[in-house]
Amino acid sequence: MEVTIEKATPGELKAKPDQDKLGFGKYFSDHMLLMPYNGDQGWHDPVIRKYQNFSLDPAAMVYHYGQEIFEGLKAYRGAQDRIYLFRPADNLRRMNDSATRMCMPSIPVEEVLEALKKLLYLDREWVPRSPGATLYIRPTMIATEAGLGVRPAKEYLFFVILSPVGAYYPQGFNPVKIYVTDKYVRAVRGGVGEVKTGGNYAASIMAALEAQHEGYTQVLWLDAVERKYVEEIGTSNIFFKIEDELVTPALSGSILPGITRDSVIKLTRSWGIEVTERAISIDEVQATIASGALQEIFASGTAAVISPVGALSYQGREFPINGETTGPLAQRLFDELQGIQFGTRPDPFGWRTELA
Ligand SMILES: Cc1ncc(COP(=O)(O)O)c(C=O)c1O
Repeated sequence: MEVTIEKATPGELKAKPDQDKLGFGKYFSDHMLLMPYNGDQGWHDPVIRKYQNFSLDPAAMVYHYGQEIFEGLKAYRGAQDRIYLFRPADNLRRMNDSATRMCMPSIPVEEVLEALKKLLYLDREWVPRSPGATLYIRPTMIATEAGLGVRPAKEYLFFVILSPVGAYYPQGFNPVKIYVTDKYVRAVRGGVGEVKTGGNYAASIMAALEAQHEGYTQVLWLDAVERKYVEEIGTSNIFFKIEDELVTPALSGSILPGITRDSVIKLTRSWGIEVTERAISIDEVQATIASGALQEIFASGTAAVISPVGALSYQGREFPINGETTGPLAQRLFDELQGIQFGTRPDPFGWRTELA
């Protein structure tokens, strides 16, 4: 598939935002990638053009029943202005897992990755230079066919937009306080929690708002059936360092298989530390806090890489974790992953891809 490139004219290029005030997802680069799908042609006519509105029929199926999936990954600027991606094909493969679950067409991973690299090359000046800042990449697929029947659409649009984002920890790497909710659930086995579809995120907002209202940064989700087993924190996976072992909930069908999660497991094992994927209950977490066996809790995800947890609130009690400080394993993983992502450390697993 040949990608048509329609460059924005010099007069259409946007002013770049202040690199020290980027925040998350507030600014968008000059171009985007678009690729439509229909039953006759499959995916066809990919085009990179100026970032702009597009119009859809008000009956487009995405607006009514939420047939939508997305991904999130980043481009990192290293030394000598080199630009790197971290495991991008894994994100596109996960998008295809989401597509299968949502009865949407899969994308050709290699071709989409090549097209994405063309988009990134064209907008390479949008990859920030300030420390820790990155260019967030948002591949998205929506059902565009007009119709109100509840069934898979026959027409889709795949698109990619780019957003320069600030360092997650501009004031340093600080532990966050987490609210364990047994009032709301994120996902249930057999549902769609293990894929990246917009509805999961819409459904999570109320719990996050209530947690923030109580003074906590994010929610820890328990399983939807027994409200007993730990699943995820906000939009990230969760790890517990218990004595000499690192424990993370097994992928049960309602947990998103994070690419950072997989990287944490592989790195930690390569350091000779045992990693176990198993069910872990909130009662066990409390018991290991009480006994002193629990050393660290941290979350993993593309946005923050590693996010140490300084305190957990559950059923009206607050439990400080590791004296509300960042633990050594969380710090080591953060440094190692950022080093691989920004090209300052070796890449033993071949996770880094350089933009030509
Ligand atoms: C619900 C959820 N869990 C976990 C993650 C972490 O996944 P990753 O490490 O691939 O960013 C994300 C972010 O993509 C997410 O949305």
